[in-house]
Amino acid sequence: MRLLVLGGSGQLGTQLRRFTLPLGILLFAPPRAAIDLRDPTAIQRLIEAQRRSVVINAAGYTNVDRAESEEDVAFAINAGAAACLAEETGKRGIPVIYISTDYVFDGGKGAPYAEQDFAAPLNAYGRSKIAGELRVSAANPRHVILRAHGSIALMGRTLFEQFCGLPKSENASPLLTTNLVVQLRRGIWQKHAWI
Ligand SMILES: NC(=O)c1ccc[n+]([C@@H]2O[C@H](COP(=O)([O-])OP(=O)(O)OC[C@H]3O[C@@H](n4cnc5c(N)ncnc54)[C@H](OP(=O)(O)O)[C@@H]3O)[C@@H](O)[C@H]2O)c1
Repeated sequence: MRLLVLGGSGQLGTQLRRFTLPLGILLFAPPRAAIDLRDPTAIQRLIEAQRRSVVINAAGYTNVDRAESEEDVAFAINAGAAACLAEETGKRGIPVIYISTDYVFDGGKGAPYAEQDFAAPLNAYGRSKIAGELRVSAANPRHVILRAHGSIALMGRTLFEQFCGLPKSENASPLLTTNLVVQLRRGIWQKHAWI
C-alpha cells in the first residue's frame, strides 16, 4: 500500500511519519515547499504523479483564534484545498481521509455527540472544517471524515507548555496525538477495504 500524507510537518503528520510502518506500506509526505495546497494545479500534478492507494489530508489551517480574523484563509485551506484534493483523488478512485474536528459542534448537546448530530460551529475554524467535510464528501465517494478532539504531541515542548498553548476556547482535556495516530493506523491498515 502506498500512502500519501499531506501536512506531514504538522503535529499529526509528524506522528504519522514517526510510527514504524508495517511491511509493504510505503509512506510519502512531501513538505509544503514541494506542494502548496493553495495551488490546485500542484494538487492535480501530485495526485496524478504519485498514484497512491490512500491519501491522508493531515494539512490544515489550525490556528483557531487567528481564524476569526482570517476566515477566508482558513476556508481556502480547510475547505477549498481539501475539496480540490478530494476531487483529484475521487477522479482516480483513490480514498481520501479528511481530519476534522469537534469544533463543528456547538457543545450544547449535554451528551456525547454522534456522527449524524446537527453541526453548528461557533467559530470560523469550525465553519471552515464543516465546509471542508461537506465538500470532501460531495467530491469523493471514497472518503473518511475523522472528527478528532483537540490533541497535543510532544514536539520539542513539554505537555505543560502545550496545555498552556491551547486555544483560549479549548476547555476540555486534549488527547495525545499518538493515540489518534494509533486509531488512524488501525483503520487504514486493517480496514482500508471499507473506504
Ligand atoms: N491537533 C488537533 O488538536 C486537531 C484536532 C482536530 C482536528 N485536527 C485537524 O487535523 C489536521 C492536522 O492537525 P495538526 O494539529 O497536525 O495541525 P498543524 O500541526 O497545524 O499542521 C498543519 C499542517 O498543514 C500544513 N499546511 C498548512 N497550510 C498548508 C498549505 N497551504 N499547503 C501545504 N501544507 C499546508 C502545515 O505545513 P507547515 O508546517 O509548512 O505550516 C502543517 O504540516 C488539521 O486538518 C486539523 O484541523 C487537529
